[in-house]
Amino acid sequence: VSFVGKGVPVPLYYQIKTRLREAIEAGELRPGDRVPSERELTQRFQVSRMTARQALTELEAEGYLQRIQGKGTFVALPKVEQPLASLTSFTEEMRRLGMQPGAQVRSVREVAAGRMVGALLGIPETEPVVRLERLRLADGQPMALEVSHIPSRLVPGLVNRDLSAVSLYEVLERVYHIRLVRASQSLEAVAAGAQEAEVLQVREGAPLLLLERVARDETGQAVEYVRSLYRGDRYRFVADLVRPRLTGGDGTSQP
Ligand code: GLP
Repeated sequence: VSFVGKGVPVPLYYQIKTRLREAIEAGELRPGDRVPSERELTQRFQVSRMTARQALTELEAEGYLQRIQGKGTFVALPKVEQPLASLTSFTEEMRRLGMQPGAQVRSVREVAAGRMVGALLGIPETEPVVRLERLRLADGQPMALEVSHIPSRLVPGLVNRDLSAVSLYEVLERVYHIRLVRASQSLEAVAAGAQEAEVLQVREGAPLLLLERVARDETGQAVEYVRSLYRGDRYRFVADLVRPRLTGGDGTSQP
C-alpha cells in the first residue's frame, strides 16, 4: 500500500479501502496480520482521521478486517464452513477442519425446565434439566456460545463431570448410551448484546447467528435443546439442496 493521489475524482477513503482490499486479496496481507491503524493511515496518505476511519470501518463491515478492542485491526480469519443439515457435534466439525476443539464451561447446574424449555423437550415445566453453558473454542479462539438443556433423569451425574475437555455428544454416547439420531434446527440473525460480545470477543451489535436445535434419540425422546450463538464473522453455513417435486393444484407449479 503506497501512494494515493489527491487529484483523482474517487473519494479518498475509497482509494485507501481499495488498496487495502487488494493487498488482502493478493495475499500481501494475510489472515491475522495487523493492518495500519487509523493514525498510521492518516500519516501515510495525508488524509484526515475520519477518512482513514471510514476505509477501515467499511472493510470491517464487509468482513475483510476484524477490530479487536485495545489490540488493533487485523485481516479477518477465513470463515469456518459448516453443514447446516448434518447432526454433528462441535468437536467433530472442528476436527474435520483440522482445528483443535475446546470448551470453557461458564456454568453447569440443574434447574427446573420452565415452560419454554419444557415444551421443547416434551417434559413438564417442573422437571429438572441440566443447563450447561459453554464457550466453544477452535484453536483457542472463541467461536460460539452454547447453552444446552438436557433432562436430568437422562444424564444422572452429568453436572459433576468435567466437561471442559470432552465432547458432550461423546459423553452422551459413551457414558449414558444415548445416541442422537435426528434433530430440528433453525438459524436466524441476531446482534451481539454487551455481555455476549465480551465473551465472544466481538463488538457490541456485531452480527451473530442464532442456532436452535432439538436433538432426539432413536425412540424420539428429545435429549438436548440448545441455543447457540455463532460468530457471524467466523461462520458460513452450507447445505446441499434438492428441488422438490411441485404438486400444483394451488398455483405453486405455475410459472
Ligand atoms: C454443536 C451443537 C450443539 C451440541 C454440540 C456438541 O455445537 N450445536 O447442540 O451441544 O455440538 O458438541 P460437543 O460434542 O463437541 O460438546
